[in-house]
Amino acid sequence: MKIAVYSAQPYDRRFLDEARAPGVEAVYFSDRLELDTVPLAQGCSAVCVFVNDRLDAPVLEALHAMGVRAVLLRCAGFNNVDLKAAERLKLFVARVPAYAPEAVAEHALALVMTLNRRTHRAYARVREGNFALDGLLGMTLHGKTVGIVGAGQIGAAAARIFHGMGCKVLVSDPAPTPQLQGVAERSDLDALLAQSDVVSLHCPLLDATRHMIDTASLARMKRGAMLVNTSRGGLIDTAAVIEALKSGQLGALAIDVYEQESTLFFQDHSSDIITDDVFQRLMTFPNVLVTGHQGFFTIEAMREIAAVTFANLACFLQGSPCANALLTPG
Ligand code: NAI
Repeated sequence: MKIAVYSAQPYDRRFLDEARAPGVEAVYFSDRLELDTVPLAQGCSAVCVFVNDRLDAPVLEALHAMGVRAVLLRCAGFNNVDLKAAERLKLFVARVPAYAPEAVAEHALALVMTLNRRTHRAYARVREGNFALDGLLGMTLHGKTVGIVGAGQIGAAAARIFHGMGCKVLVSDPAPTPQLQGVAERSDLDALLAQSDVVSLHCPLLDATRHMIDTASLARMKRGAMLVNTSRGGLIDTAAVIEALKSGQLGALAIDVYEQESTLFFQDHSSDIITDDVFQRLMTFPNVLVTGHQGFFTIEAMREIAAVTFANLACFLQGSPCANALLTPG
């Protein structure tokens, strides 16, 4: 059987080929899945997709008409899949629910440490023979308060890391993971925002959480605090954040995700004119650090994604129960 792998980068190919079972042929396309690129899946019974592929009703119908019967997500989030349309078409849809949550939590730490101690600026300075310290002043994190919004798998891993560094950790979550006793204190969002020196977002993007960081919530934050987002770009109203950075209300911003990232991230745009003025404005601040959705990107997580993706495919082929299935053809 043959599967079409969309949004495939060289690293996807490497890890998927390592995990691929004999008898499964994979064809790789760097293109994102959208209506125009559906024909690439000709002759395939499954598509394998990532966070910025589009699986709306017209795309799913076109795939189904070509004989595609399974959608294998190489990610946990499925906000890009029209599940109602997939159910109507009796498609099998499965995801990778968790892949090394510590990888994302560790990336959040990397962002905090880089932005706080300006190691990105120090690196460039020292390579030019500039050993001046002016502009590199940071704060000691030990003893500071870190607010974790969303204490699921990744948020809990982040809480354990910051607790281990001697920070006071607050978590805001309607249903936090139970193992945080002695590590973190529960808090409501407003109290967390008011007390935290660093606020790190780890909750999913839902209608209820879209733009949870807006003008009003930014005003409730401690003046000069740092905001970190490794979850989903839509949690933050970027225009409001820019205003808060300009006024100094927000002291620093570190993001691995951006609301309009689908047209930018995972591609080399270094020779292009970037027309997203909001993103470009963010890039002008010395106290803003952006990475391109790489929180998950470790060897261990890539291996896990590949292994679970092919385990999901095996369930589809054998018709066996699949714990990671969002939909199984009834
Ligand atoms: P999870 O499902 O284990 O935890 C999410 C937590 O958020 C749950 O405990 C839930 O109760 C909580 N929550 C829901 N609504 C909330 C609200 N209004 N306020 C506070 N908490 C709320 O998910 P996990 O695995 O920890 O992932 C978290 C997010 O990280 C994902 O939704 C995804 O968007 C993002 N992610 C980012 C990656 C990256 O590479 N940057 C990679 C993988 C996931």
